[in-house]
Amino acid sequence: MRASGIERFGGEVRELSLPDPRSPDPGEALISVRAAGVAPWDDLVRLGSWEVGLQPPAALGVEAAGTIAAVGAGSDGWAVGDEVMTHAVPVLEQGCWSELLLARTDLLAAKPTAVSWEEAAAFPVPALTADQALRAAMGGSPGGRLLVHGAGGVTGQLIAALALVTGVEVAATAGPRSAARLRKLGIDAVFDYHEDGWPTAVRRWAGGGGVPAAINAAPGGEQDALSALADGGRLATITGVPPQPERGVTIADVYVESDGARLGRMAERLGNGELAISIGGTYGPAEGAEALETAVGGAGGDAIALLA
Ligand SMILES: NC(=O)c1ccc[n+]([C@@H]2O[C@H](COP(=O)([O-])OP(=O)(O)OC[C@H]3O[C@@H](n4cnc5c(N)ncnc54)[C@H](OP(=O)(O)O)[C@@H]3O)[C@@H](O)[C@H]2O)c1
Repeated sequence: MRASGIERFGGEVRELSLPDPRSPDPGEALISVRAAGVAPWDDLVRLGSWEVGLQPPAALGVEAAGTIAAVGAGSDGWAVGDEVMTHAVPVLEQGCWSELLLARTDLLAAKPTAVSWEEAAAFPVPALTADQALRAAMGGSPGGRLLVHGAGGVTGQLIAALALVTGVEVAATAGPRSAARLRKLGIDAVFDYHEDGWPTAVRRWAGGGGVPAAINAAPGGEQDALSALADGGRLATITGVPPQPERGVTIADVYVESDGARLGRMAERLGNGELAISIGGTYGPAEGAEALETAVGGAGGDAIALLA
């Protein structure tokens, strides 16, 4: 099969010809991939800094959408022809930037019919991360106030949108180009992170004592997000560099976990319009290197998709 990937960790992304996957065992499905997500974290996989189970030569890619071509026994109710999306980690044989993907059925979710293949493909990782980060920051309490630092990014926007639809009052940091998009979501308290002293403005928004909960999605923004928090508050950070705890603050270092059931609930919200993901660029099967370069360079809060 045709794929886009690497011959060794740290190597350039190129077109590869790989053996077709084996037939699915019980609890597995073979997916005919229509599109895959391309994002900065794929570069971590390329470099070997995020261990997802790949053994080069291998297709990259940790999220995809497509149609089930075959299922093994005990397939959790999935059938040939079902349209699905997945964050397929740990990888069984190859990554998602390939024509065919062998994946565990417990990591699949139904693709909403109203959503494009590209949107479904780029949704799983940021959506699952948003779901996990929000639960970690809110600690199970309904409602309340939350700061989302770095809300202009693909994941940051989903965190902010999910918080809003679950009844949380959200303050967000964003640059000028993303501020309007966040206001359109219904967030009035948008603070420009380029302005010194924005954490003080956020504390004021929360009544002076600081926000009870914050999620940091801004690389390097961990300390600023912490400084906007109230004593004893909760910080979830997704940037992999949690700060030292202070003032009784609880800190969660959130790393995305694959989970078909939770992805299914997020996909329902995507299908009914409560959540959205915007595609900023779609690349052909031979353009994996260009797609990754665009994603790593920053696509202004839009997601990138690679067609199979
Ligand atoms: N731990 C995990 O499992 C996990 C999962 C997903 C993502 N992540 C990581 O989380 C981070 C955010 O992900 P993403 O998908 O939202 O990335 P993204 O789409 O690449 O976000 C880029 C946006 O972040 C905003 N930004 C950049 N620097 C900022 C700063 N100093 N302060 C505030 N905002 C800033 C910019 O928006 P504006 O200037 O337009 O506002 C920029 O367009 C990345 O580092 C990503 O690798 C981790």
